[in-house]
Amino acid sequence: MSVGIDEISFYTSSYFLDLRTLAEKQQTDPEKYYAGIGQEKMGMAAPDEDIVTMAANAALPIIERVGADAVDTLLFATETAIDQSKSAGVYVHRLLGMQANCRVVELKQACYSATAALQMACALVARRPESKVLVIASDIARYDLNTPGEATQGCGAVAMLITQNPRILSVSADVGNYTDDVMDFWRPNYRSTALVDGKYSTKIYLRALKKTWENFTAVSPLQFNDFSYFCYHLPFSRMAQKAHQHLARLNHCALTPEEIELQIADTLRYNQAIGNSYTASIYIGLCSLLDNLQDDLSGKNIAFFSYGSGCVAEFFAGQIQPGYQAYLHTARHQVMLAQRQEVDYDEYLSLYHYADPQQGESVEMPHSTKGQFRLAAITQHKREYIPC
Ligand code: HMG
Repeated sequence: MSVGIDEISFYTSSYFLDLRTLAEKQQTDPEKYYAGIGQEKMGMAAPDEDIVTMAANAALPIIERVGADAVDTLLFATETAIDQSKSAGVYVHRLLGMQANCRVVELKQACYSATAALQMACALVARRPESKVLVIASDIARYDLNTPGEATQGCGAVAMLITQNPRILSVSADVGNYTDDVMDFWRPNYRSTALVDGKYSTKIYLRALKKTWENFTAVSPLQFNDFSYFCYHLPFSRMAQKAHQHLARLNHCALTPEEIELQIADTLRYNQAIGNSYTASIYIGLCSLLDNLQDDLSGKNIAFFSYGSGCVAEFFAGQIQPGYQAYLHTARHQVMLAQRQEVDYDEYLSLYHYADPQQGESVEMPHSTKGQFRLAAITQHKREYIPC
């Protein structure tokens, strides 16, 4: 039985900062961001947007097609949780009108947890083939101002329906895993921004790629040349380009540098426009490939390298299904990106500093989002989400 991604949809914030604006303020050459790290814009959440509203917006078109009663499990992956106890998925479950006999849980391991959720969802469907599992990954990446990480902020959510005989991508059971207790990037509970040893993190990312690839090829018959395209975790686009060149070198690949670049170029487009969306980024990369590549991908093998700092990484494979084009949400994604509003540097700072009330006081959020769901208020430490 084939199991995998039956439908996929993504969403990001209503605002963005162009990295030229950041560069100008920092008196840095904008090419450091545009060419050096390969990023153009970064998503900034409005006060009435967060991981829950982005997640509900990402999942809405899937639920509209499949029906709110069809899903029996919702797995919510994030590393920017809004609560230490309650799963963000429970809010999404209500906003989408999902049935009460649905299990909901949140998962965390930096940027890796969406892949853990995907694999768990595949296992659940393998156990009960009639199951439909909704996997949602949603994150808001935040670093301290005036640090090297600042230009790699961003946000986004992706929703994937996992079923038997999927219409988009069958996911192979063969995986390569790698875990290592390292401090490359972390965020203690008392901090709202991440701490990172930036250069070290890029080295660990590459080491994890090599280790997962070795582990993957020990169990899978697929080799480098069997893959047409590669989706990487995307902290910034240059990271994936460096990683892919590294993997190509390890495999003594005979392709030209241009051909190697074409194996990932279309996976990067949405990331360049929204920034790091942590655990959602690799699957937004898949959306980007599916929406932007002009060629027919039917039957092609796609490689996935999922990396979460700390660190846990996984290499796995998927195969694109014939006729997948009919089930994409390309137009919706492109309208959503086109409707976003650019902010200037002062507006960026005010969005950056916008903080939830800490003492139980009531705060109503201004209606800013262009999405279908919003965080309307926080009262006595309770978040109130409503449809728009
Ligand atoms: P930096 O140290 O300020 O940048 O920040 P740099 O000086 O290394 O420059 C970056 C690149 O731009 C270099 O190219 C420069 O040469 C080039 P490279 O040598 O790397 O090929 N450059 C220019 N190019 C054209 N014109 C110019 C120009 N100037 C410079 N004028 C750093 C880089 C990665 C440290 C920083 O962005 C950072 O700390 N980012 C956050 C950490 C990160 O994203 N790490 C990635 C791996 S870890 C990961 O992916 C997990 C994560 O998503 C979290 C999770 O798992 O939860 C982060």
